Amino acid sequence: MDKDRTLTLNIYVYFVFVIGLAVAGYVLYIYRDVSVIGVVLFGVLIFAADNLSAPLPKTGSVSVNFGISLASLILFGPPTAIVVTFISIFNMREFIRRVPYYKHLFNAGQYLISMGVASVVFENIYTRDASGFFNAANIGCILAAAYIFFFLNTILTAAAISISEKINLLNVWVFNYAWLIPFQLFLAAMAVAISFLYNLYGPFTLLFTSLPLIIAQYTYLLRVKERRALLNSILQIVKIMEAKDPYTAGHSVRVAEYSEKIARKLKLNEYDTELLVNLANLHDIGKIQVDLSILNKPGHFTKKDWDEVKKHPEVGYEIVKEITFLKSEADAILHHHERVDGKGYPKGIKGDKISVFAKILAVADAYDAMTTDRPYRRALTKKEAMEEIERNLGMQFDAKIGELMIEVIREDYS
Ligand SMILES: [Fe+2]
Repeated sequence: MDKDRTLTLNIYVYFVFVIGLAVAGYVLYIYRDVSVIGVVLFGVLIFAADNLSAPLPKTGSVSVNFGISLASLILFGPPTAIVVTFISIFNMREFIRRVPYYKHLFNAGQYLISMGVASVVFENIYTRDASGFFNAANIGCILAAAYIFFFLNTILTAAAISISEKINLLNVWVFNYAWLIPFQLFLAAMAVAISFLYNLYGPFTLLFTSLPLIIAQYTYLLRVKERRALLNSILQIVKIMEAKDPYTAGHSVRVAEYSEKIARKLKLNEYDTELLVNLANLHDIGKIQVDLSILNKPGHFTKKDWDEVKKHPEVGYEIVKEITFLKSEADAILHHHERVDGKGYPKGIKGDKISVFAKILAVADAYDAMTTDRPYRRALTKKEAMEEIERNLGMQFDAKIGELMIEVIREDYS
């Protein structure tokens, strides 16, 4: 990260932390009455729930702890909810992983701001009356609190990611958080159920009401872990495959880097960008079926060799389309050697019949192939490769995407 951005991020983190403390101080000062039993019971729950939260792509995190702190707000009011939220900040996994202190400061600040504002609004509009628990106005108040918390929390966090990774704020938010909007309804409903049963039958009901929350959390955590494990093992296969052929070592990783840069210029959302990067890493996995003696062959390929090599997009496609979270765009692998003029392979399709993802992979792949040594020729210089892409715009490469690749290469120069 460059100096300016580090400075901006630091100022932002301390600003959020100080405002968070001020908001928490204000809530405690105005309302004062902290419920000890509320803090103990809900503190334990939120501590358990938060330590089972699942990491999201691009450093965000999802956790049902808000359902629990919202229940404490409904039952005991803002000061208890603020203390319970404060407890949730102590995420043991983050301490064990030695997450830098400023991340703790930031988390503390943004949770306290989000909960503080949500709880003050809530307290001002909610009628604390057991008989009116399920009237429309009160349910509306609970939903309002849930969404105020959600939007403040996610926008503050997205802004930090946007500053540190230099990605458009809206993109970060849409990719990491937009899909959680309906999830807040579920959390609000759980909070209503938790507090209603608590009021009616007492604290032991927490065992039944919050357990599903924690199990839901844990299931999600397992899903995220499984997905990462699967991707990692496939990437290992790619690495082993490329290591056997000294000419292609690191090829897929570089193609993934170029593809990501093009995606940024195209302003693809974060979800699509991550999908594209994963596909780029795997684009040549079909070569696993091509005989190594062909791939490493010095001199030119015979027609038979070519026929063999040209099977790799189809083989790769067959492999990747079996991976649930990649299959929607797996045909980018099938078509990464197509040309917009229709002279490519394996299908010979042209123009708009080729997906944007495939067009990006095609130019990123070609550029990396041109700029690395091959058994039968030396690498081209960046400038020569750039001219080659320029010459082939609208024939081998999509004109717009090819131009973007040229911009990426130019920026690489400076
Ligand atoms: Fe390829």
